[in-house]
Amino acid sequence: MRTQIIEHPLVAHKLTLLRDRNTPSPVFRQLVDELVTLLAYEATRDVAVREIDVVTPVAPTKGLSLAYPRPILVPILRAGLGMLEGMSKLLPTAEIGFLGMKRDETTLEAHTYANRLPDDLSGRQCYVVDPMLATGHTLIDAVNYLLERGARDVTCVCLLAAPEGLRNLEEAVGDRADVTIVSAALDERLNENGYIVPGLGDAGDRLYGIV
Ligand code: URA
Repeated sequence: MRTQIIEHPLVAHKLTLLRDRNTPSPVFRQLVDELVTLLAYEATRDVAVREIDVVTPVAPTKGLSLAYPRPILVPILRAGLGMLEGMSKLLPTAEIGFLGMKRDETTLEAHTYANRLPDDLSGRQCYVVDPMLATGHTLIDAVNYLLERGARDVTCVCLLAAPEGLRNLEEAVGDRADVTIVSAALDERLNENGYIVPGLGDAGDRLYGIV
């Protein structure tokens, strides 16, 4: 597994605004969208491309185009939905599949309640979006599910990661080269309720309210 923490002043600036408990929901959503687009740029470094011919107004030349099969974006409901738009801006031709996963607040284990993905993911590059890599249980289940169905590789794009979650993921997926974690920051730890410290609070609630 590869882990990439994106160090960039714009990423840090937007993340700081997201952390601020006084940032209201509409601004929070807008910032998540902008931040994800920056992360998506790094997360798609290995997206498959093929060489094509192109004719400029001056001369024919070679260029690159996204290869087939198309990549798949997988937002983890609910909070991952807030990251979908930013990701699909950079990969507008990607297909979109959904995984609904909720963590049990007592055991902190993930439970899958919705799945709208093709059974066969052979050769597909999957980009999972989920803002908070806390215990890692949700992403472990999502990554295993996608790889079992034949995904070529899985890149998880997160806003924040906790060391405990990264360790759990590392243990679960081992040294597989086809799993990458991209995050805007690596925070200090988890608290007793499984929240990332200092974190930004409950990402779903801050995006969509307490419903
Ligand atoms: N999920 C969140 O929304 N926030 C955390 O800090 C941990 C898990």
